Amino acid sequence: GKKIQIAIDGPAGAGKSTIAKIVAENLGFTYIDTGAMYRAVTYKAMLENIDLSDAKSLEKLVLNTSIILKPSPSGQLVFVDGEDVSQLIRSNEVTANVSQVAAHSNIREILVAKQQQLAISGGVVMDGRDIATHVLKDAELKIFMSASVEERARRRFIDNEKRGIPSTIEKLQEEIAKRDQLDSEREASPLIQAEDAIYLDTTHLTIEEAANEILALARQKM
Ligand code: C5P
Repeated sequence: GKKIQIAIDGPAGAGKSTIAKIVAENLGFTYIDTGAMYRAVTYKAMLENIDLSDAKSLEKLVLNTSIILKPSPSGQLVFVDGEDVSQLIRSNEVTANVSQVAAHSNIREILVAKQQQLAISGGVVMDGRDIATHVLKDAELKIFMSASVEERARRRFIDNEKRGIPSTIEKLQEEIAKRDQLDSEREASPLIQAEDAIYLDTTHLTIEEAANEILALARQKM
């Protein structure tokens, strides 16, 4: 089949990364988690005590940082200046601050260019917030994935338990709602469904059901 581009956008905890990984694996495509790039920048900025509202300082930092996404059997590994930060970028601290960093248009410009470079030869499943609307406007398949806030918080809770990250459902629901709001209301590339994207509500779907829906749509385009 054709090596198409598949864009998967949606709010936090909708199941994008889990499902995107399965879809990529089944098609023999590369999975690219763009949120990891914003998290990597946030992680390093916090490490260097940079003011996260200071767009200029952040830009300098990004231009002097190597961020590498490496496909792996588990999905994707993230390296910052050669160090594997795949786990570190999932901490509560990074999660709480990433939307502030991602709101800066100059930072987005730099990361979007990297993302477009990674997808240039197709055969990719890319997940994020602005993939269909900005990064891969010509993607053959665009999915906007969502689920109720309650269900998304419940899934994150189970996820965190597995990773050994302490949390409560209430706190997660609050955190998710706050992040959705920041991501949806920002000026630069807000989280919004593209006109030509297919809406997929995963609230009542299993991971397998959601993946199968996307796989069926993808095969029609290949
Ligand atoms: O997908 P994940 O939850 O890891 O994304 C972390 C944050 O990165 C999001 O809440 C959002 O602020 C930002 N992000 C973005 N654009 C993307 C991917 C992620 O603004 N394409």
